[in-house]
Amino acid sequence: MILKLKIFYVRLKWIFRNFGKIRYNSELFNNLLGTTTYNWDGLATSANSDFITTPRFAKAYQAAKDTNPWPNFSLQWRIHVVCWCAETVKNLEGDFVECGVNTGSYARAIVDYIDFNSTGKTFYLLDTYKGLDPKYITEEEKKFGIQNYNYRDTYEEVKKTFAPFRTKIIRGSVPETLSQADTNKICYLSIDMNNVVPEIAAAEYFWDKVVPHGIILLDDYGFQAHITQKKAFDKFAAERGHEILSLPTGQGLIIKKK
Ligand SMILES: C[S@@+](CC[C@H](N)C(=O)[O-])C[C@H]1O[C@@H](n2cnc3c(N)ncnc32)[C@H](O)[C@@H]1O
Repeated sequence: MILKLKIFYVRLKWIFRNFGKIRYNSELFNNLLGTTTYNWDGLATSANSDFITTPRFAKAYQAAKDTNPWPNFSLQWRIHVVCWCAETVKNLEGDFVECGVNTGSYARAIVDYIDFNSTGKTFYLLDTYKGLDPKYITEEEKKFGIQNYNYRDTYEEVKKTFAPFRTKIIRGSVPETLSQADTNKICYLSIDMNNVVPEIAAAEYFWDKVVPHGIILLDDYGFQAHITQKKAFDKFAAERGHEILSLPTGQGLIIKKK
């Protein structure tokens, strides 16, 4: 009880001190007035989050979580976006590609959500399956500690997870492995390697293969430690007459124009 009062007092003090900074309509003001419906993974909102409990999403999300990327995995809204993208492009021509797979949580959600085998497409899954390739981490990225990201060896797990599905698992460092993705048309490209050099190389390699209205989803686009990627992708998109939609999840979205 005393602790609760203390916390309440500290919060009240903070509000009085910062009152001038709290603009009407600011996120903070809305959060104070509304019920928080989602507060994970760097995103807090009072917006409707009912998608979480729809049986179709809940089942796909559970399949993603069961790949066990890390304890207390809570990426519901990012996976909601991933599933929405897959659903949106599934009737276009072309295959699915992901560069940066780790345990395959996003891809596993997708194969469940859109019954991937029934699409007749192939899902290309490219990763070293053992973490970032140090030779591609730039000096700027090192300032943000990107070289300290750790990933376990997931190759055998991923082979097992995706054995029932129409996938091609490509092991090795991007960009060296890109040509092993033997497809000429892509409708879904997910880029999630946490460092700029292989990410831009993948985007450059696949851009012409992405069909009109196909989607490119950038997982790290809006995160502060990944500003190097954001700058490079903004330039990449502008050079091709596109603009990236910055999502509150941190993801960046490009829908390829005709
Ligand atoms: C954040 S994880 C990907 C998470 C994944 N999208 C998911 O659905 O859970 C980043 C992955 O990128 C991979 N990676 C980083 N640099 C790479 C490179 N140059 N070539 C291939 N894979 C790379 C790492 O091995 C790691 O598995």
